[in-house]
Amino acid sequence: MKLLGEVLRLSMQYLQEKNVTAPRLVAETLLSYSLGVKRLDLYMQFECPLQEPELAKFRSLLQRAAKQEPVEYILAKVDFYGLELPVTSDVLIPRPETEILVDRAAHILGLEDLKGKVLWDLCSGSGCIGLSLKKKFPDLSVSLSDLSEPAIAVAQKAAKANQLEVDFLQGDLFSPFEGKKAHYIFCNPPYISAQEYEELSFSVKGFEPKSALVGGVTGLEFYERLALQLPYYTSPGAKVFLEIGYLQGKAVNEIFSDSCWIQKRLEQDWSGKDRFFFLERE
Ligand SMILES: C[S@@+](CC[C@H](N)C(=O)[O-])C[C@H]1O[C@@H](n2cnc3c(N)ncnc32)[C@H](O)[C@@H]1O
Repeated sequence: MKLLGEVLRLSMQYLQEKNVTAPRLVAETLLSYSLGVKRLDLYMQFECPLQEPELAKFRSLLQRAAKQEPVEYILAKVDFYGLELPVTSDVLIPRPETEILVDRAAHILGLEDLKGKVLWDLCSGSGCIGLSLKKKFPDLSVSLSDLSEPAIAVAQKAAKANQLEVDFLQGDLFSPFEGKKAHYIFCNPPYISAQEYEELSFSVKGFEPKSALVGGVTGLEFYERLALQLPYYTSPGAKVFLEIGYLQGKAVNEIFSDSCWIQKRLEQDWSGKDRFFFLERE
């Protein structure tokens, strides 16, 4: 029989040898999940003996982490802006930067009358953007769309689990919205270039959907398509919120050159990198 503190120490050491990022956090997260306790409560139980069935469950999760699988896929869930969302390898794991996008947008939306207003989350993946905004602003009429049917199935599960009523549409970018217009459009499209993709770590390349990451040869392709099509799909005064790659600020600003945009604003994430691009229509 092993004591919890000893199991934790050996697991951290094992993950470190396997070059897993943040081995302590990963070991603690998986152990607390296996035991059904809060992570911080582990610190008060270092002397507790662990039973074989608990250890067996933890070992199998640890093996997956040692193979670089992201913890979010192992636990099959992620916390995002107050929601717990299911995630599978059919969807990109929502990133903290996207939470910043939602938070900045929430401050803007919070000042507006949202009754009867329409919000679209294009390239919705796990549904993190559209669902968290629907939760915060129930008056909004929200639609989520994605090219990937399996991704939509994951987001539908998330909507059900969080009791949120939104519409789901499948198709290429604006094609599910033919002839319609929105007041708010969000999009975190695939924006990595083909070359950058090759340089990503195995924990990303080996597990996350390539179609959620790669935007094309340059990575700017989705912004070029958005710039051409957005004017036809936005109501007067509409606001657009985009996430971008940290080196894409200048290029994206040039891509959105249409005179219909009365405001264009590039914003940075917490590390000071260009990460968000906001637009407002005349
Ligand atoms: C970067 S992920 C963003 C997912 C989610 N919105 C987030 O912020 O975590 C991009 C998403 O775009 C979807 N996608 C890729 N190509 C698409 C296309 N042509 N039309 C619509 N969605 C597309 C992918 O399936 C993926 O779910």
